[in-house]
Amino acid sequence: MKSKSTLIVGLTWGDEAKGKIVDLLAAEHHIVVRYNGGNNAGHTVAFDGETYKLHLVPSGLFHKNATCVIGGGVVVDPKVLLEEIARHEGKAVRLRQRLLVSSRAHTIWPWHKLVEALSEKHQGKGKIGTTLRGIGPAYADKANRVHAIRLGEFLRPEHLWKKVERIVEDRNLVFTKVFGEAGLDAAAVWQEYAAYGEAIRPMIADTTAYLLGAVEKGKRILFEGAQGTLLDIDHGTYPYVTSSNASAAGAWPGTGVPARAIGEILGVVKAYTTRVGEGPFPTELKDALGDQIREQGHEYGTTTGRPRRCGWLDTFAIRYAARLNGIDGIVITLLDVLGKLPELKVCTGYKVGGRTLKEFPDDPAALQEAQPILESLEPWTEDISGARSFKELPRATRAYVKRVEEIIGAPVRMISVGPDREQTIFRP
Ligand code: GDP
Ligand code: IMO
Ligand code: MG
Repeated sequence: MKSKSTLIVGLTWGDEAKGKIVDLLAAEHHIVVRYNGGNNAGHTVAFDGETYKLHLVPSGLFHKNATCVIGGGVVVDPKVLLEEIARHEGKAVRLRQRLLVSSRAHTIWPWHKLVEALSEKHQGKGKIGTTLRGIGPAYADKANRVHAIRLGEFLRPEHLWKKVERIVEDRNLVFTKVFGEAGLDAAAVWQEYAAYGEAIRPMIADTTAYLLGAVEKGKRILFEGAQGTLLDIDHGTYPYVTSSNASAAGAWPGTGVPARAIGEILGVVKAYTTRVGEGPFPTELKDALGDQIREQGHEYGTTTGRPRRCGWLDTFAIRYAARLNGIDGIVITLLDVLGKLPELKVCTGYKVGGRTLKEFPDDPAALQEAQPILESLEPWTEDISGARSFKELPRATRAYVKRVEEIIGAPVRMISVGPDREQTIFRP
């Protein structure tokens, strides 16, 4: 029997409104699990006139019957996790009893944030434009093993204190001798973090065992990807990517649930494309039209508040992402934002040095040079934010959706026409 589990993944550079979609679909699932990233993510959920911003806790938290799991593939900043739980536990019923955090998840410490800030500053123009949340250094430590700390180690505080002391000693050599900065005080760090460990302790669990048991019991699991496929460390626009597998490929290592237990994969795209931070972005509009999209779509980072770079929908990149993830369907979000634009285009391919590319480039230099091949479509002026069925949409809007479907080669299953839960169109 085909599994009834679902995976939600961004098909571009993040911020595709995955949070809204996960919140909506959580109602039909028993478990919602985040599989990658950390508090570099900013997911937004809106209902009953309120807006909630989430960074670590899965976007299913407002459904009181859903168990929320932070998988082992996530990097956890314990301070941020506790702040987020405290911020939302009034609205998210019994959140502490429904939240499990993997003992295998790696943790973010002050030295990760410090080294990232120093490194980005030192790179100057060559920086990646990270969120400065310590994500990259924490994943680097995970791969390097020597200085890595998994959440489960908080269950053995005496051992962990000794480890922290040794790590700080090593790190301080780099901070003081390489960067000429003051070092960290191990005892002060430990005092703060030991308290976080105590507070998180009841939520630490072997989530792999829990999820495998849930699969055997036929529970419906919703997998929540953070970031987007083009930010995936292996398959994205390297080196301007994040440090985890943000594509669907991250779900297996990030949760322990075998890929064959995932039933359906839905790829989320905005009706246009955005990107935050540095890196190539072939359809970027650096003109008044880009500014208009930014203002109409309120395109400012959920995590860092940075203005997002805006451009035409890049179906060439999205088709690559759709194939890579093996998606069953597409979710188009923020379609309302495109109303009132004087013109409307989608990118169907790239030209590099006068040559039309057959495949999305694996070479960052080619991507940097790529000229988008644009197709014009008929714009619309109507406000579509009140539409609740496909047939209520203006003809030009329906034509846009159908064209996107055709180019990407997958059916559009849901359309979002506003931030609220209600502002959603389902297509059979
Ligand atoms: P995520 O990181 O993929 O969860 O996306 P973000 O939350 O960072 O960014 C999406 C933004 O768009 C949030 O501010 C949402 O409230 C908002 N949003 C979601 N869906 C829609 C929509 O259909 N229309 C409009 N106008 N805004 C939306
Ligand atoms: P959600 O889940 C958009 C970008 C950063 C930077 C690059 C590396 O909300 O879609 P990092 O701090 O991860 O090392 O930064 O990745 N980035 C995101 N962009 N949405 C996100 O998450 C992002 N998480 C990281 O801007 O370019
Ligand atoms: Mg976001």
